[in-house]
Amino acid sequence: MNATQPKYKINELDIRPHGQSRELPVLPRSESTSEFMPLEEKEVEYFFASDASAVIEHTNRVIYLEDDDVAAVRDGTLSIHRLKKSLDDPHAREITTLKMEIQQIMKGNYDYFMQKEIFEQPDSVVNTMRGRVRFDGNAIVLGGIKDYIPEIKRCRRLMLIGCGTSYHSAVATRQLLEELTELPVMVELASDFLDRNTPIFRDDVCFFISQSGETADTLMALRYCKQRGALIVGITNTVGSSICRESHCGVHINAGPEIGVASTKAYTSQFISLVMFALVMSEDRLSLQQRRLEILQALSKLADQIRDVLQLDSKVQELAKDLYQHKSLLIMGRGYNFATCLEGALKVKELTYMHSEGIMAGELKHGPLALVDDSMPVLMIVLRDPVYVKCMNALQQVTSRKGCPIIICEEGDEETKAFSSRHLEIPRTVDCLQGILTVIPMQLLSYHIAVLRGCDVDCPRNLAKSVTVE
Ligand code: G6P
Repeated sequence: MNATQPKYKINELDIRPHGQSRELPVLPRSESTSEFMPLEEKEVEYFFASDASAVIEHTNRVIYLEDDDVAAVRDGTLSIHRLKKSLDDPHAREITTLKMEIQQIMKGNYDYFMQKEIFEQPDSVVNTMRGRVRFDGNAIVLGGIKDYIPEIKRCRRLMLIGCGTSYHSAVATRQLLEELTELPVMVELASDFLDRNTPIFRDDVCFFISQSGETADTLMALRYCKQRGALIVGITNTVGSSICRESHCGVHINAGPEIGVASTKAYTSQFISLVMFALVMSEDRLSLQQRRLEILQALSKLADQIRDVLQLDSKVQELAKDLYQHKSLLIMGRGYNFATCLEGALKVKELTYMHSEGIMAGELKHGPLALVDDSMPVLMIVLRDPVYVKCMNALQQVTSRKGCPIIICEEGDEETKAFSSRHLEIPRTVDCLQGILTVIPMQLLSYHIAVLRGCDVDCPRNLAKSVTVE
């Protein structure tokens, strides 16, 4: 990283401004411009960081290193070396000028980045749809993949691969993808996918979902699928990241920089990106037009509904006061909300170091019910969707074991609310988007429990924002 002018010693590698090198990224670095103004007399300061946002307060000019690059600064001179000499490394190292705004990486009036990022979601979801969804004409264009749509429509199956929160966004949208693409959809944790040497074919389409675009397991899985001839689609938040560059095509989720280690706004933006993809795939299916319209209308109201859910903050904080001294929290739901259970439990674990488990309500009788008694904290998501009756059945099983669950239900649903004195009401939306509104109370809950337990919200112990090791 350089502040002003670099006196470069070019050692094996050429360092040049963006624009003079071989065409590199598949997803263009649209947020970046390039310039290189040698000013011999100016002093130079270099910063090394794993993410550009860490140095933006000092400089907006960065060089992204490739795998196996070694950068050294000696006597004020930067040189970049390769571990091994290789003739087939055509990459030049470019100086890129970031267009990131410093406000984007400042906490502003918030206590933590995570809190700020949770509250940014009414805007970040709009940014994900900006320039892509036309609500008046009910049209959606995903510029980064539009040329590949005919090929994707002919594929054998869709595979969605990621880690952690990114994996949960795949779980959250799988059902809709199956419905609107009428293709088999496999959802995979990158590490497990690699462990299994999963068979992959040339006519598979593999989506790699990653906020950072650098997660090692996801990147390894990408290379594995690419070697086997599959079409590689990147869904990332980081322009110019490894996953971005190594994909054939992709969708940039445009959630803006996410600094808190626990992912929040990237999740809702990944979710919406995959929903938009499902809508694109079903554009010419007459029988699905009514369903598409219903989803598009719901998308247009989403930002306001997220604002409404964020109003629950102080109520969620009160619930956190009841929960923070407990050892465990079980989160139950099914259908479109199962992903919220997994994601909510991950947030609680990551941030609060409490045990938490996302439980598929259909599995309750196959084991988890044994955990339920009058002292076990339980949270249940029970919405008026196709699995409502089944969820009510699970709710009754819990209450009959003296469980007293916190219920997330729809606004004004008196019948469901009657099962517990503690509930959070969320606005009604189309079934396949409920997961966006139900995950926000879970983000807030984990945040407040972490604060009450005195945990470092933005940097939980033992975790990293970008896990670049396998
Ligand atoms: C780390 C983070 C998680 C994140 C996961 C995947 O484990 O702590 O919050 O969900 O990596 O990250 P990615 O950048 O690939 O979405």
